[in-house]
Amino acid sequence: MKILILPGDGIGTEVAACAAGVLKHVVPDMELDYGLIGGSAYEATGSPLPEETKTRIATANAVLLGAVGGTRWDTLPQDKKPEAGLLGLRAHMQVFANLRPARIFQALCDASSLKGEVLSGVDLIIVRELIGGIYFGKPRGVETMPDGTRRAYNTLEYSSKEIERIAHKAFGIALKRSAKLTSVDKANVLESSRLWREVVDEIATGYPSVEVSHMYVDNCAMQLIRKPSQFDVILTQNLFGDILSDEASMVTGSLGMLPSASIGEGPGLYEPVHGSAPDIAGQDKANPIGAILSVAMMLRYSFDMEGTAHKIETAVEKVLSKGIRTLDLAAGARKIVGTQEMTDCIIQEMENT
Ligand code: IPM
Ligand code: MG
Repeated sequence: MKILILPGDGIGTEVAACAAGVLKHVVPDMELDYGLIGGSAYEATGSPLPEETKTRIATANAVLLGAVGGTRWDTLPQDKKPEAGLLGLRAHMQVFANLRPARIFQALCDASSLKGEVLSGVDLIIVRELIGGIYFGKPRGVETMPDGTRRAYNTLEYSSKEIERIAHKAFGIALKRSAKLTSVDKANVLESSRLWREVVDEIATGYPSVEVSHMYVDNCAMQLIRKPSQFDVILTQNLFGDILSDEASMVTGSLGMLPSASIGEGPGLYEPVHGSAPDIAGQDKANPIGAILSVAMMLRYSFDMEGTAHKIETAVEKVLSKGIRTLDLAAGARKIVGTQEMTDCIIQEMENT
């Protein structure tokens, strides 16, 4: 098996190196390849998603990404920005389902801005459509009208096929969890959401054991804060999933801890939910756990290695329960460690069990 590592920018390079170390530890015969993405790829090649990276993807069984972005590339034209590299990568790999779990680590209950009693039992996963909707819809653009007014526009569209394939993934995931699925839309206003709702109901008939409900996105944003434990699987479109997953991450209080998986028919793409944090890059301060847990997701979803995935997750939990923390989770820590030392502790914990 060959894994392509795309470290990217900022702390992406540090956390990707740590995640690669954990991967090598648990599956020593995994072959690792490296490629460029984001701002650093732009510096080296003039493109945030170079052709060479695409060539490397073609021979990989899964891709592990660090993070992309940084203020120094903010003024580049849209198609040269690091974010364009990431969106291009998702589209190129056709990874239409983005899975973002958010659960409470008992040891980190204090890190959330919500009260402990609201947090108890939170364990949800957002299944976000990733390569359609308003992110990719055409027409899009900016124009100046004859009277000098500027006008900018984007298109939010979904075909029934796009909705069907993401719905099947979400129902499949619900079957393996507590079989409860909430589909989130804005069907009171948007045609694309009315179609979304109809198609989700059609697909639901094939999964009679899954309990399905529909919720408007504004209500969902409120319910996530009011009672996050009511959710199990949240299925939603690209833009709503982008927003709700950031909200869910803060419910857990630990953005640096959260992994994600993006899957389609081919190789999967795995990345921590956090960004490139240029302010702390290169200082051994970043939390590597989001990237390390992304390796666990890779083993689970791309290679069906549930046992090994679980071993990594358990080691992370044990290290946290000893009070060992990176700086972002300093409150309640017994010992503050750097990026590398946190990784070493997690590897050590796996060796001990
Ligand atoms: C995310 C990010 C990206 C997105 C950005 C960096 C393009 O916010 O992965 O959630 O909007 O999808
Ligand atoms: Mg986002």
